[in-house]
Amino acid sequence: CGIVGYVGTEDAKEILLQGLERLEYRGYDSAGIALTNEEGVHVFKEKGRIATLRDAVDHDTSATVGIGHTRWATHGVPSQLNAHPHQSTSARFTLVHNGVIENYKELKANYLNNKELTSDTDTEVIVQVIEHFVEQGHSTEQAFRETLSLLKGSYALALIDQENKETVFVGKNKSPLLIGVGEDVNVIASDAMAMLAVTDQFVEIMDQEIVIVKRDSVQIETLAGEKVERAPYTAELDMSDIEKGTYPHFMLKEIDEQPFVMRNIIQKYQNEDGGLRIDADIREAVKTSDRIYIIAAGTSYHAGLVGKQLVEKLANRPVEVHISSEFLYNMPLLSENPLFIFISQSGETADSRGVLVEVKKQGHKALTITNVPGSTLSREADFTLHTYAGPEIAVASTKAYTAQIAVFAILAVDVARSAGIELDFDPLQELGIVANAMEVLTAQKEEMEKVARDFLSVTRNAFFIGRAADYFVVVEGALKLKEISYIQAEGFAGGELKHGTIALIEEGTPVFALATQEHVNLSIRGNAQEVEARGAHVCTISMEGMNEPEDQIVLPRVHEHLTALASVIPMQLISYYAALHRECDVDKPRNLAKSVTVE
Ligand code: G6P
Repeated sequence: CGIVGYVGTEDAKEILLQGLERLEYRGYDSAGIALTNEEGVHVFKEKGRIATLRDAVDHDTSATVGIGHTRWATHGVPSQLNAHPHQSTSARFTLVHNGVIENYKELKANYLNNKELTSDTDTEVIVQVIEHFVEQGHSTEQAFRETLSLLKGSYALALIDQENKETVFVGKNKSPLLIGVGEDVNVIASDAMAMLAVTDQFVEIMDQEIVIVKRDSVQIETLAGEKVERAPYTAELDMSDIEKGTYPHFMLKEIDEQPFVMRNIIQKYQNEDGGLRIDADIREAVKTSDRIYIIAAGTSYHAGLVGKQLVEKLANRPVEVHISSEFLYNMPLLSENPLFIFISQSGETADSRGVLVEVKKQGHKALTITNVPGSTLSREADFTLHTYAGPEIAVASTKAYTAQIAVFAILAVDVARSAGIELDFDPLQELGIVANAMEVLTAQKEEMEKVARDFLSVTRNAFFIGRAADYFVVVEGALKLKEISYIQAEGFAGGELKHGTIALIEEGTPVFALATQEHVNLSIRGNAQEVEARGAHVCTISMEGMNEPEDQIVLPRVHEHLTALASVIPMQLISYYAALHRECDVDKPRNLAKSVTVE
């Protein structure tokens, strides 16, 4: 789910294909490009990988203008027919679109007389409505503007007009979109990474803006027609950050990067005098609010569970954690002075953004904790805390999760200190110890691979149990395993198993028991015995000082507030190897997208 576009002097085909490859990590099920040259517009699209598209592209087609798309199916099954680009009936207009149009049926009825379309997509409706307005005598620009003002929903789109082949028309609402600017070349991308090979200068496009992109000009306007001037920023990304190097998979590279990420966070959040560097406005916002609402999805939600506990235990502020896709439907009674904290690796998750837009409308303050500071959630919140994990490419989140938790620990202590709460916990020092522990654990790849082989090679399901703070980590461990290995995995509070799930335990069912919390050590081990007595194959992950001879994995000791940062590492590695043994596509698991920009 992403778009790219190129208007320049070089071979558009190769640049677009490479751009799409850079977007591959976001997850997709089909891809396509459109290239324009003297003969006209050439469209190539395929179901499956970019490699398949590459093979299908006619290599004689030379072009210096084009657009491209990776699709993650929302309307209509993944197929060549439903892949983008889509063309109007006369083939004069060609469009790529990322997002979801909510009122496409209405548009089809009102403007297209419900005529039969080629595909099942909402996107085809857009391109047909544009052609409809042009047939009525409007210029392409007018028709584009007019159509966009009718659209309800989210879109980042790029249009090519056969009769004006040197121009790409671009529009945005809710879905991310950047224009990259260069000398005699301008590009379009959902993500700076896609076009970093062409330029590192990018201009952000805001909702309800359109852009007319030519080789030597970029003209931004609001839908209402007002001109917009906006200076480009320099994307602080390095090509080496977004390449695998010697690693077989991004996921493994990113798991290994975690000690560096911890040290990077320590450095970025440390003052000259050794204290914590947190913006005073953020500290005040946390201190003055009477309740914090953490909103997030997926792995970021799991980091939020750990974050809640850190803020409550260290800073003594009440916190609730909510799944973003549910929040607006199951809205809790809000306190008088809430602060919303959005956690998002990408800063683009549409479900989270939906909540942000609503709470801002209600006048509440919002802080975003993200790995992408220029992202939508970061721009639209009042404050941002950067997780400094570097680009995360593998769909399964690893280093972003540990970075989010580390930043929460720092924030919680900063607030506690300024509120005069005395703590026997120095987060920067303790994160340094965590970094060392992570190094020890990431060096144990052979051991982790063996655990994956012994416990997960034949099973269809697996359970993860933990109590107290460990409970929050086992749900993440289960998510890691299921998303990349397709083994059905669930994380449970140790005591809850016997209230139902224990019925699923059979001879050989793998159960991972996490035991890093002194005060529940005996009870979680008791739970492990309960399942073992019913045939389960139990793998215990414990911590130095609490370990028993039969434990399979023993974590180096880290501070009790930060155990999640160590205990998640074996779960990430075991999941990785389980997926590898099953020959799964580790970095790009089926049906999943890295950055879900649809609600
Ligand atoms: C997708 C990804 C998950 C991620 C979630 C939230 O589902 O596959 O790995 O945790 O989105 O993404 P965010 O960028 O908001 O953290």
